[in-house]
Amino acid sequence: MKRIFLLSFFILFGIPESFSQKITFKDVEPIFAAKCVACHRPGDAAPFSLITYQDISKKLTTIKKVVASGYMPPWQADNHYRQFANDRSLTDSEKQRILSWIDDKASKGNYSDKSDATKQALLGVTAYNRKPDLTLKIDSSFIIEGDNKERFVVFKIPFESDQLRHIEAIELYSNNKKVVHHINYGFYDVADPLVDIRSGDWAINTTDDSESSTKLRQHTDFKRKMAYYTGWIPGTSVESYPKDFGWILPKRGVVLLTAHYSPSAVDESSIVGVNLFFRKDNVKREVKAISLGSGGIGERDINPPLFLLPNDVSRHTLQVQTREDQSVMFVWPHMHFLGKEFYAYAVTPQKDTIKLVHIPKWDFRWQELYKVKQLIKVPKGSVIHLDCTYDNTADNPFNPNNPPQTVVSYGDMNSKNEMMTLLMIYSAYQEGDENLVLDQ
Ligand code: HEC
Repeated sequence: MKRIFLLSFFILFGIPESFSQKITFKDVEPIFAAKCVACHRPGDAAPFSLITYQDISKKLTTIKKVVASGYMPPWQADNHYRQFANDRSLTDSEKQRILSWIDDKASKGNYSDKSDATKQALLGVTAYNRKPDLTLKIDSSFIIEGDNKERFVVFKIPFESDQLRHIEAIELYSNNKKVVHHINYGFYDVADPLVDIRSGDWAINTTDDSESSTKLRQHTDFKRKMAYYTGWIPGTSVESYPKDFGWILPKRGVVLLTAHYSPSAVDESSIVGVNLFFRKDNVKREVKAISLGSGGIGERDINPPLFLLPNDVSRHTLQVQTREDQSVMFVWPHMHFLGKEFYAYAVTPQKDTIKLVHIPKWDFRWQELYKVKQLIKVPKGSVIHLDCTYDNTADNPFNPNNPPQTVVSYGDMNSKNEMMTLLMIYSAYQEGDENLVLDQ
């Protein structure tokens, strides 16, 4: 009887770890691979790799500390509000498995070094796990002087081919990600053969973002014909779209890369660009990017305006109405150092609320292009709400001013100013889109 009871207990609740075999590296390796390696690999944002048994066993004490505290892996979105396909937070059982493994002497078990070698070879290329079809990058290194100033550099990279390219994924190319604060890319169509895409400044370098965009305008009359726009922030890996979706790279044009480099005390060198992955078939559903709030639609309607007084915690909202039925694929909330909390949701004409994203404790260092699990239908006439709180007190550990000072928004990316922006990547809605499941 007792045995039957115990058996049904296990069937109901699973075999507890203490009854099961000793945890070895084989049991935790897939967790590191899925939740850590995207950043902890050569050339990426984290300062060391966590790929092989060797890598990981060298860092056990700190891994235990940051996994137990929840500092790693960084994941800011509130999973109770909405869950995302690219969620890299640890489940309670994954967390427990890592901690038990470390406590239990981090045994290697019968894990073979061969598997590590295979893994490293596979990793070599890109986060999209295949070689890019086209890399557009600057020719020579850009040197960031070690003068502790932040920098905005606009790089112009021409491209030319005899055919349109259908894009299914895009990622940042960078040989030194830790110096990059963020990058935006705009792809422009320059069909006119009289416009020389190779001439003009290849780099415009200023310490002020608004200055760089004015200078840029003088050089780029073609700026009106934008084919696509997106960007990279620390933590983002690859932006990829499901079957049939994507955007089209024109035959001839330029990509303007606006790079914001963090201040550095030593000279650093940087090569930046984009890796593009082509579709084998054609794009049938075009994806578009739209930016709401600072630097985008509705900037002037932010209420009250982003005029953040010292020693004040303030809440600001924005409502923007949608003009077409949309299928939303990615949401990218953005604020700077004074950001405290970010909500975005849509209210349909029938007054239903569609939750988009909630960041309960904003942390400028860990931002993300959040990829939805299933396309979200936002019907025409819905109102998208941003509801954001800023903390301009000395209690905010990220406040760049001590004592706090008035901070405003110029709709630019200068991190001394503030922003309240939601970028959405979406397609025009088609029947059944809400059932389309996106993979990781
Ligand atoms: C989004 C990118 C990202 C992911 C995913 C990520 N890390 Fe990190 N990690 C970083 C960066 C960047 C740093 C260095 C900056 C810092 O410590 O804040 C770091 C630092 C660390 C440190 C050193 C902390 C210290 O106090 O010195 C450890 C240990 C660590 N990560 C472990 C992990 C583990 C384990 C995982 C997966 C469960 C993981 N990280 C997932 C980006 C990431």
